[in-house]
Amino acid sequence: MSAWCCVNGRYGPIDEATVPINDRGFLFGDSVYEVFHVHDGRLWAAERHYRRLGRSLEAIGLNADLEAIRGWVDETLRQSRLAEAMVYLHVTRGVAPRNHAFPPDLKPTVVITVRPLVAMPEAERRRGVKAITVPEVRWRRRDIKSTNLLPNVLAKQQAIRAGAYEALFVEADGTVNEGSSTNVFLVRDGALHTPAKGPQILPGITRDLLVETAREQGYAVEERTVKLSELFEADEVFLSGTTTEALGVVEVDSRRIADGQVGLVTRGLFEAYSERVRQGRD
Ligand code: PDD
Repeated sequence: MSAWCCVNGRYGPIDEATVPINDRGFLFGDSVYEVFHVHDGRLWAAERHYRRLGRSLEAIGLNADLEAIRGWVDETLRQSRLAEAMVYLHVTRGVAPRNHAFPPDLKPTVVITVRPLVAMPEAERRRGVKAITVPEVRWRRRDIKSTNLLPNVLAKQQAIRAGAYEALFVEADGTVNEGSSTNVFLVRDGALHTPAKGPQILPGITRDLLVETAREQGYAVEERTVKLSELFEADEVFLSGTTTEALGVVEVDSRRIADGQVGLVTRGLFEAYSERVRQGRD
């Protein structure tokens, strides 16, 4: 089987699934989501993702049955028979005639898709990727994993057009927040630095796992404000994300980072993270 999905507990091929046009997720982006990585048939970091989903739902005042959702996710994955996959889980406030205000007691719409995930080619990972910077234009609750991703979509497209992999959102004062779908780290003098958690960034699951892994390996990790100028003075820069894992950045805005190669710390952390995944230690 390949791409498979579930809409409110009904399973089937993705191409045959539909949601009503009055769904508030479609009309307003009134919805939150999660993306999981499936390794060897197992939902990686499931508890962390469900905890974050719970926080996103609570932050927008959406009551959904998390136990039912977990059951649907497991069953969709089982029916897909995929071992290396990406699970997309989307919970909307439900269906109602278009009106910004929502009626009470709507039934949430839950959409789950499972798709095969092809790992990034090793040569590409070894080469590293380029990033561009874009002005931070998003709302101030980026800690909520909302499906309102228009700025992220446009930023990523701008990166692709520029021949880059990612766009980093940077405030007018030079503060670097995160990528359009990744968190960002820098390495300087053997220590890691990454923007602190707060409303300004998504608290990435991979970010947290890499911070823990780095500390286990004896690295100091500072979670604090990071400025764009620091990226250019860094020994290494890397991105983190569910499907990105730890990916070296060798160029930002056409300026080379250090010697323009993926650094040893990034490489080592990627290996340690991959080992952690193999051990199922999430
Ligand atoms: N994106 N920052 C943003 C804005 C993101 O959208 C993501 C994830 C991350 C990394 O978080 P995590 O490590 O939990 O994947 C950071 C997902 C993968 C997506 O939208 O497809």
